[in-house]
Amino acid sequence: MSRPALRLVEVGPRDGLQTAGAAAPTDAKVAFVDALSRAGLKEIEAGAFVSPKAVPEMADSAEVFARIARRPGVIYSALVPNEKGLEMALASKAGKISVFTAASETFNKKNINATIAESIARFAPVVPAAQKKGLPVRAYVSTAFFCPYEGRIKPESVVDVVRRLDELSVDELSIGDTIGRASPDDVRRLLDVLLKAVPAPRIFLHFHDTYGMAVANALAAWSEYGISGYDASTGGVGGCPYAPGASGNVATEDLVFAFEASGGKTGVDVKALQAAASGLSAALGRPLPSRLSRIRL
Ligand code: HMG
Ligand code: MG
Repeated sequence: MSRPALRLVEVGPRDGLQTAGAAAPTDAKVAFVDALSRAGLKEIEAGAFVSPKAVPEMADSAEVFARIARRPGVIYSALVPNEKGLEMALASKAGKISVFTAASETFNKKNINATIAESIARFAPVVPAAQKKGLPVRAYVSTAFFCPYEGRIKPESVVDVVRRLDELSVDELSIGDTIGRASPDDVRRLLDVLLKAVPAPRIFLHFHDTYGMAVANALAAWSEYGISGYDASTGGVGGCPYAPGASGNVATEDLVFAFEASGGKTGVDVKALQAAASGLSAALGRPLPSRLSRIRL
């Protein structure tokens, strides 16, 4: 299997900081996003236009978008659950939006107060409206391997949700191991089925690292299945407010190091990522989980 050039989507400012409590002031978020773009990342999910009652940590996303130093060639994207979120993303000049649903009904209900079918119906007007304004649309499918409430999720359930999202002509899919429980064998089981429905270039994998398997999962998907797209969060910060016990995303610096050590090209400067993580750690007043935040290269 050929190992394609890598496409990394940095989700730290959104997924990483959505559970950080009040400890992440707007200044720190802006500095974090700017440090990430300086490191060479080409796509950064800089915030979320969701209900501030649901996720208070993201309530300052418009201010973050207004204050970041936009680098040419970098896409600054935003998480959006509905039409109201799209309006806010457009007003903030986001370059791309991400809608989000799940392969587990229980998780989806807790996360966005909707069944899977209701959430996809909510996206139906959002996707073409965004695309008409020139914004590509990513769709997240959370709990694609395990759900904190329903346990193991069948690959067929993921494919069913993906097919329904594809009817809306979303541009790409991000398949989430929301609670960080998948092993490389779980990844193989899903990709064996999913790649019959969606071509590899439209798939991103979104691993959380609760059980320490995220780097192994990404290397397996890249080298055995030719998946080029991965989400990651510098410093390994984060979790999901509706997935109790889930830890942060795979750390971007850990993933970059692993891919480059295996012959991959990411275009990202790992030392600059370490600097971004160190700045965030100082702002949060605590050490971050990533392995490389503790190693001098
Ligand atoms: P609801 O209560 O069913 O909806 O929430 P609603 O339409 O009745 O709205 C409730 C209130 O929110 C109203 O305000 C709305 O105006 C406001 P009120 O009248 O009570 O003052 N509202 C909004 N405010 C700002 N922006 C908006 C917006 N929409 C409504 N876009 C809703 C439904 C979806 C809004 C809510 O449940 C929500 O915002 N949930 C967000 C949950 C979230 O962000 N979760 C974390 C991200 S998902 C994740 O982390 C997984 C992922 O990383 C992948 C993986 O790891 O698997 C992506
Ligand atoms: Mg996530």
